[in-house]
Amino acid sequence: MGRRTIQYFLDYLKQTDHRRVTKWMHYFEVYQRELGHMQGKDISFLEIGVYQGGSIPMWAGYFGQGSRLAFVDIDPDCMRHAEPGTSIEIGDQADPSFLEKLAADHGPFDVIVDDGGHLMHQQITSFEYLWPHLNDRGRYIVEDTHTSYWPGYGGGYREEASFIEYAKRLVDKMHSWYTDQDKIFPFDEIAKQMNGVRFYDSVVVVEKQLKKEPPLLVGSKNGEVSGSRKALNVRGRRSVFQGRDGI
Ligand SMILES: C[S@@+](CC[C@H](N)C(=O)[O-])C[C@H]1O[C@@H](n2cnc3c(N)ncnc32)[C@H](O)[C@@H]1O
Repeated sequence: MGRRTIQYFLDYLKQTDHRRVTKWMHYFEVYQRELGHMQGKDISFLEIGVYQGGSIPMWAGYFGQGSRLAFVDIDPDCMRHAEPGTSIEIGDQADPSFLEKLAADHGPFDVIVDDGGHLMHQQITSFEYLWPHLNDRGRYIVEDTHTSYWPGYGGGYREEASFIEYAKRLVDKMHSWYTDQDKIFPFDEIAKQMNGVRFYDSVVVVEKQLKKEPPLLVGSKNGEVSGSRKALNVRGRRSVFQGRDGI
């Protein structure tokens, strides 16, 4: 089977030991789409949420043997699920000082998976404190985002405080290059760090891309290729879109 299939995960499910893994089936396809290019490579990985430990050997076998894998849970009992060559840290994913220490000890990361408590403030606090510690081209994956629709988790339909609404606002911020409507839509520095926010069923993936300059507009005529960033010199300057971008 090629690396574009989810075969690795299907095989893993048949080889688990006493450590139970709990994932929705369709997540494996998301993993393969988002992480397939890192399969077998040595990377730095963090997962929040250990529970019965089954995802530890799953990720250890998916990435290269030289990878650094760290796992987090609030329940000290999870220490017993440790796997040689991986680390488990006990702490609260909504505690900024714990997250800062975690990042200092184990970061920066190529992949961060949040499969922890799934409460809104937990997902948002973890994202805000760990995002700066995600490497260029890294993936930040938040699982079970259907809890954004559950009042018992701090969510609810179109609930401003939900992670899904937070992620929708990330979409706006990513596009804040493209307009000079500063009063209602200020430029957000995170636009310089984001390449995509992808919404899957119950999973949100944010891809990091460090951009030194605004996006490049490329043109080509008679085989002559030219590039310009003039179009996006919009913030506080004159926009080539002026009159058509809301001003
Ligand atoms: C869905 S389970 C993790 C499943 C595991 N990733 C797997 O794939 O099998 C969620 C875990 O998050 C942990 N958790 C809940 N609240 C947490 C918090 N505030 N900080 C860290 N971990 C938390 C729970 O103790 C539980 O073990």
